[in-house]
Amino acid sequence: MKVLIIGRGGREHALCWKVRQSPLVAKVYAAPGNAGMEDCASLVPITEKEHQALIEFAQREGIDLTIIGPEAPLLDGLADRFREAGLRVFGPNKTAAEIEGSKAFAKAVMKKHRIPTADYAVFTDYEEAMAYLAEKGAPIVVKADGLAAGKGVVVAQTMTEAKEAVREMLLNRKFGEACAKVVLEEFMTGEEISLMALVHGETVIPLEPAQDHKRAYDGDKGPNTGGMGAYSPVPQIQPEVIQKAVETILKPTAKALVQEGRPFTGVLYAGLMVTQGGPKVIEFNARFGDPETQVVLPRMQSDLVEVILSLLEGKKPNISWDDEGMLGVVAAAKGYPGECEKGATLYGLNELSPEVFLFHAGTCKNAAGQFITAGGRAFLLGAKGKTIPEAREKVYGELAKVKCSGIFYRRDIGLRALTGSTEQV
Ligand code: AMP
Ligand code: GLY
Repeated sequence: MKVLIIGRGGREHALCWKVRQSPLVAKVYAAPGNAGMEDCASLVPITEKEHQALIEFAQREGIDLTIIGPEAPLLDGLADRFREAGLRVFGPNKTAAEIEGSKAFAKAVMKKHRIPTADYAVFTDYEEAMAYLAEKGAPIVVKADGLAAGKGVVVAQTMTEAKEAVREMLLNRKFGEACAKVVLEEFMTGEEISLMALVHGETVIPLEPAQDHKRAYDGDKGPNTGGMGAYSPVPQIQPEVIQKAVETILKPTAKALVQEGRPFTGVLYAGLMVTQGGPKVIEFNARFGDPETQVVLPRMQSDLVEVILSLLEGKKPNISWDDEGMLGVVAAAKGYPGECEKGATLYGLNELSPEVFLFHAGTCKNAAGQFITAGGRAFLLGAKGKTIPEAREKVYGELAKVKCSGIFYRRDIGLRALTGSTEQV
């Protein structure tokens, strides 16, 4: 088989790496991919936006399966186009991807189908939003309806912050059309987890849970990012809680999307808050998480390609998992998530232990063939261990070998997994 992975980040590198191991697969392509993926995929110089060129490439090469990594092409209807062309694709159609693309839509589906989530209201009118704020008080969460590159959520601790966020979105259109509507949401407290599932219609195959670290700096300080590190499993969350989330959130959501006439095929990612009242939805994504995928896929013993094919054929495949935990730390270019420094040479990558996992994202090669930073998150370094603390020690030990003046990383990834037990696996 020939498999095409669309995207260019660490998530896509992990996908290429995993797909490459399938005995069913002869060749893996990444479009456009990144220089670090060359060890497991052939790079195709077509971007995520060039839908027609991607389809022509897939037809010409006889691609048997395409996996779309990022949300933007899904929301632009790329999976629809592949299906219309008779090509096998793993990723939701545009209308199903709206579960990520419109928070107002996602909340409406959850309300209608009684899927546990924070209380909320949706506003387009500034005065009405202000009146609601005055009634509810702080803390409260202000969210832009559409995609805002991970910056559209303000967890307002005070009324001043909340009012400011609403003003910036509804009056000043800080995120353009994406904030023509805002969702005002109850503030929830608890442990956050990312729970992904492979979904086809009503069939839901949960993956192992992970925990992401969204803030840029240690101690959960600084701006929200795409994710600065992750680990899997999440030992401080009981397996019954995960089971409950599958039964009360993932399965009902897949079913609801079928009932709404928007059947979902692909990865349904639930960002969950484990509250006193059980797991509740913070957000849905319509794709693999980044960096969660980089720590979840290496733990999967089953052949991902075989699992996806069997799911697409209407079966309900089982997935077996490695007992060991995995932890990954993201190294990002200085300045991330804002304006980034670029072009800094990454020294020491060749000295890393063969035991660790290096997934490239924002890197490229210079004329001398050395990896340099290319902006944003540069790479994720991950390792497995009997416990999360053990994996953590390995990762930080190896990261110390990477010398580069243009990157930074958090030092506290995985500290919440205090006990370090992976017994739940
Ligand atoms: P999102 O982009 O929707 O994942 O939100 C970014 C972050 O904001 C989440 O990872 C949470 O830490 C936080 N957040 C979002 N919604 C809520 C909520 N209703 N209550 C508390 N924190 C939230
Ligand atoms: N790591 C969060 C996300 O993929 O959206």
